[in-house]
Amino acid sequence: MTSAANQTRLWGGRFGGGPSAAMAALSKSTHFDWELAPFDLAGSRAHARVLHRAGLLADDELEQVLGALRQLSDEVGAGTFTAIESDEDVHEALERGLTEKLGALGGKLRAGRSRNDQIATDLRLYLRHRVRDLVGAIAELEQALVGLADRYRDVAAPGMTHLQHAQPVLISHQLLAHAHALTRDVDRLRDWDKRAAVSPYGSGALAGSSLPLDPDAVAAELGFDRAGDNSIDGVSDRDFAAEFCFAAALLGVHLSRLGEEVVLWTSTEFGWARLDDAWATGSSIMPQKKNPDIAELARGKSGRFVGNLTGLLTMLKGLPLAYDRDLQEDKEPVFDSMEQLLLLLPAVSGMMATLTLRPEVIEAAAPQGFALATDVAEWLVRRGVPFRSAHEISGAMVAYCEQRGVELDGLSDSQLAEVAPELIPEVRTVLSVPGALAARKARGGTAPERVAEQLTSLGALAEQHLQWAASSPVAAAL
Ligand code: ARG
Repeated sequence: MTSAANQTRLWGGRFGGGPSAAMAALSKSTHFDWELAPFDLAGSRAHARVLHRAGLLADDELEQVLGALRQLSDEVGAGTFTAIESDEDVHEALERGLTEKLGALGGKLRAGRSRNDQIATDLRLYLRHRVRDLVGAIAELEQALVGLADRYRDVAAPGMTHLQHAQPVLISHQLLAHAHALTRDVDRLRDWDKRAAVSPYGSGALAGSSLPLDPDAVAAELGFDRAGDNSIDGVSDRDFAAEFCFAAALLGVHLSRLGEEVVLWTSTEFGWARLDDAWATGSSIMPQKKNPDIAELARGKSGRFVGNLTGLLTMLKGLPLAYDRDLQEDKEPVFDSMEQLLLLLPAVSGMMATLTLRPEVIEAAAPQGFALATDVAEWLVRRGVPFRSAHEISGAMVAYCEQRGVELDGLSDSQLAEVAPELIPEVRTVLSVPGALAARKARGGTAPERVAEQLTSLGALAEQHLQWAASSPVAAAL
């Protein structure tokens, strides 16, 4: 006889009593895995059809089960069916919901499946579905960056290495560098999706099922490309979760690096950019303050994305096959990375779309710090001077100017000759920022025509990304 307390549990038969309070509290996951309820119900509908085709559910039973599952989906959507204290996880809660509606018939659905293959499938479904939202949000940021770059497309800026003036670049070239990083994030997520499109359903607890089920039919109904070939791998593999967390962490790092630039650019010391009021905060004590909180939160949150990845990988390391309960810890990092990115991206997009640059300040800084010294060296090279000597001569010119407190274009003909005989007055032709920019016209360079091409190609890519994001392979099953 099973005890009354155990009747609602999934494993009543061999247990003499219910779990201790501390065991139940530790074990419980409904407070986070409820997110998976719509996907678990979609899996249940597909499983019911397969059981029916296998002759394990009669026609009227299938109809009743599908009706009850649909009703349960509506109730979950409306928030009228929720987990109760005695439910351990989302699967147990939903089976309770089904048996409350159907009595013993509700219990038939458990045949041929296990929470182990259910959870592995549910998390894939959740991710494949939500990754489209994520890509859509990234594409909007790509568009914001392209828009900002386009508005200031011809503004010259001091390009930096080591945060020191290095060579002039177009500010649009720099903004689009951030957009390129985002396109790789999208590529990674789309590529991830190909590997995530394999269904673990049918793996059962670990060995597959002796019942005549059809894993490929379930896979197709849930929008997967196919079912997996190895049931042990099916319930053990969390590569898809780790890979997602990596893609999320790298995206987070990209947002952090963009955020850092905004923090710098909006500082009084740089004075390159102004934040729109709606995308900045003030100070409770200092009335003059306008703070780049979005940029800082982008920088700050990157830490937790990296943490989610390392936490997940560390949990997986050393786990024996097949399922272990440790795997329950896979969900919170995945959900957290997804939710936080979906919170962060629209804010960063809004901040970038409404950012005002100050071209006069940026352009004035472009030639400063002897940023045209490389152009002098390359001019010498074009005149046959070996680069090693050219570098020396140009360096001597910088030192000469530094001692006298002038910029490179401030030297007279005789001063140029004093630095080196090779520095004939014609060198002045390369001492212009527009000239330096225009000269860098090979593929990848900062010349205006190359940047114009990037604006076009990145705009088209963002459009493609939005299109990919618009349809989910899972949607039809929900
Ligand atoms: N809540 C579990 C998880 O998230 C469900 C999987 C099966 N549990 C089990 N004890 N076999 O991983």
